[in-house]
Amino acid sequence: MIDYHCHILPGLDDGCRDLAEAVEMAILLVDAGFTCVHCTPHCITGLFDYPIELIKDAVRDLQEVLNAAGIPLQLKVGMEYYVDELFFERLENPLTLGDSNLLLFEISPTASFNLLKEAIFQIRCRGFIPLLAHPERYPTMMPGSKSAGFLRRFIYNALPTDTLFFEKFPPIVKEIIDMGCLLQGNFGSFSGVYGQEVQRVANLHQKQDHYKYFGSDGHRVRQLRKSLCGIEQVWQFDNIA
Ligand SMILES: [Fe+2]
Repeated sequence: MIDYHCHILPGLDDGCRDLAEAVEMAILLVDAGFTCVHCTPHCITGLFDYPIELIKDAVRDLQEVLNAAGIPLQLKVGMEYYVDELFFERLENPLTLGDSNLLLFEISPTASFNLLKEAIFQIRCRGFIPLLAHPERYPTMMPGSKSAGFLRRFIYNALPTDTLFFEKFPPIVKEIIDMGCLLQGNFGSFSGVYGQEVQRVANLHQKQDHYKYFGSDGHRVRQLRKSLCGIEQVWQFDNIA
């Protein structure tokens, strides 16, 4: 099993604080059945902004520590890009997930749908595959959510099945999937780490088979432990990579 989204590199972003915590997180992941994890620190202008070479060095250093400790976890490089004022410039030479063409990115919950579509379009224009992190955490993208407007919420509750609702009101994510954007769900969304609404929206996405990849989005040991409780809820589906 592969974790496609994890803040396990120590001392870089708001994730893992030091080497000891990184090792503890690695052990948790191995115990949960992972053999490989993509190290994906945030890339946010003015906040978490590191050269690609530094990320590669940090991955290599942590891998050496894990190897020496006999922890069987393969680390791969990555980045979680935030769509900000430098995002389009960064696309000239981005750090993708491992050897793949997958480019993991996130947007502000208040960003416009047009900005999201532009980001996807630009990623694809440069030959990369857009992978949107945790779409369930943007409830406006799912019309059955509380933030999707009263009328749609009312109709959603009135219709007998989700399938019927989505036939009549395809969610915004359907449009971005059609644009070639892939979606990465967080295990923690299924175990309620981000609250009941995100959990409900994650289940709706899953029922619609929207996810192609999953990740722990692990930041700290305690949060990672809770997030991994969501694995069983997604295991029953065949689409886990
Ligand atoms: Fe993340």
